[in-house]
Amino acid sequence: AIEKTFLMVKPDGVERQLVGDIVDRFERKGFTLCEAKLMTITEDLAKQHYAEHSERPFFGELVDFITSGPVFAMVWEGENVISVGRLMMGATNPLESAPGTIRGDYSTTVSHNVIHGSDSFASAQREITLFFGEEAL
Ligand code: CMP
Repeated sequence: AIEKTFLMVKPDGVERQLVGDIVDRFERKGFTLCEAKLMTITEDLAKQHYAEHSERPFFGELVDFITSGPVFAMVWEGENVISVGRLMMGATNPLESAPGTIRGDYSTTVSHNVIHGSDSFASAQREITLFFGEEAL
């Protein structure tokens, strides 16, 4: 089905000037960019975005990192873009992110892993609304 997802180049990816490459990968795949903005995430927004991880030992580190510099937040649309987008991102665990994927090509760590993408329809709806408002759904 045609769906929308939320993708975000994290501060390490923006700093390393990977935004253009990442946008290019999704465009060449055939997905459509619907919304995009360069922004710095507030601590409040970071805590909302990562609410499901609030009890994890690395939560503080996660919030510190995602607020440490500008991110490039995006909404993309296309056929099965939620699950296909996650395939293109590669696994969170650097031992499992295959070469050819974004994380497989650009990251060696679980925390500084260049990109975030919604992991389900429900989280896509929630994250799109959080960053771009209900109008973007
Ligand atoms: P993301 O897809 O943005 O959503 C949750 C994030 O938690 C995940 O990417 C990882 O970058 C991060 N994460 C997962 N495990 C750890 C960990 N052990 N230490 C630090 N960050 C982690």
